[in-house]
Amino acid sequence: MALTSELGKQIKLKEVEGTLLQSATVDNWSQIQSFEAKPDDLLICTYPKAGTTWIQEIVDMIEQNGDVEKCQRAIIQHRHPFIEWARPPQPSETRFHCVAQVGLELLSSSNPPASTSQSTKITDLLPPSFWENNCKFLYVARNAKDCMVSYYHFQRMNHMLPDPGTWEEYFETFINGKVVWGSWFDHVKGWWEMKDRHQILFLFYEDIKRDPKHEIRKVMHFMGKNLDETVLDKIVQETSFEKMKENPMTNRSTVSKSIMDQSISSFMRKGTVGDWKNHFTVAQNERFDEIYRKKMEGTSINFCMEL
Ligand code: A3P
Repeated sequence: MALTSELGKQIKLKEVEGTLLQSATVDNWSQIQSFEAKPDDLLICTYPKAGTTWIQEIVDMIEQNGDVEKCQRAIIQHRHPFIEWARPPQPSETRFHCVAQVGLELLSSSNPPASTSQSTKITDLLPPSFWENNCKFLYVARNAKDCMVSYYHFQRMNHMLPDPGTWEEYFETFINGKVVWGSWFDHVKGWWEMKDRHQILFLFYEDIKRDPKHEIRKVMHFMGKNLDETVLDKIVQETSFEKMKENPMTNRSTVSKSIMDQSISSFMRKGTVGDWKNHFTVAQNERFDEIYRKKMEGTSINFCMEL
């Protein structure tokens, strides 16, 4: 499948079991599959625009004991590589990996997914070695409406993703899960249902925003670290939206304009809770809440409506 971006570029996507994926991910399936996770690896998992970069920086700051200079050693995409980008093997000391996209199908069974290189199912995306080694997973969920808004602006500026069209068009695209990496509902529900069956720390963007120190402390304990209060305070400060927006190692300013045009919209755009109120019409909001109720039935997550 090929879609056209705002620049008129051809975006190569493939639909796997109804889920749109970037072609490179599908084409490199067997390489992704053969990734060998080690027992103390940590996998950061998020739906796109849920605060991936934020949690990546928090994890690295904790790992580096709050040493800002060490966190400046490379851009965040290199410090915590995305598994699905299927890059060449990382240096052996790399222990933190990211997968922004593994969804419900993968996790809806309590058994580790089978590794089969013949069938390209999204269920097979996560390399089995993560399950086999009982690795830790850190999941961050963000209110669906704010994710939609953030993803809309991201697609406007990111020329590796399809043109989102008008806001009204994008609203339909998103609620139907026809965005790259599929449905928000499936993703969040899937991980939520799995959270007590594996070593999964499930966090919310909104909680990190409300009480960053409290949530950062949770991450620290999950990572088996114990840092002083002063170090925690420093990490809170250094991972604030304002700091990360100015930090070239986190703000994607090193990415070429032909890929991300930040004159259209910044990668570090607003970093707030509730920006959806500036985008949703009353009718869209009512419709969304109805869909949310149906799709998320059976879960106790209803943070969407509360904001
Ligand atoms: P907005 O577009 O709403 O501003 P991801 O890293 O998963 O692509 O998510 C990007 C979203 O997280 C953007 O949301 C970005 O501004 C926000 N974000 C990044 N760093 C943040 C921080 N330190 N505090 C709050 N939000 C942050």
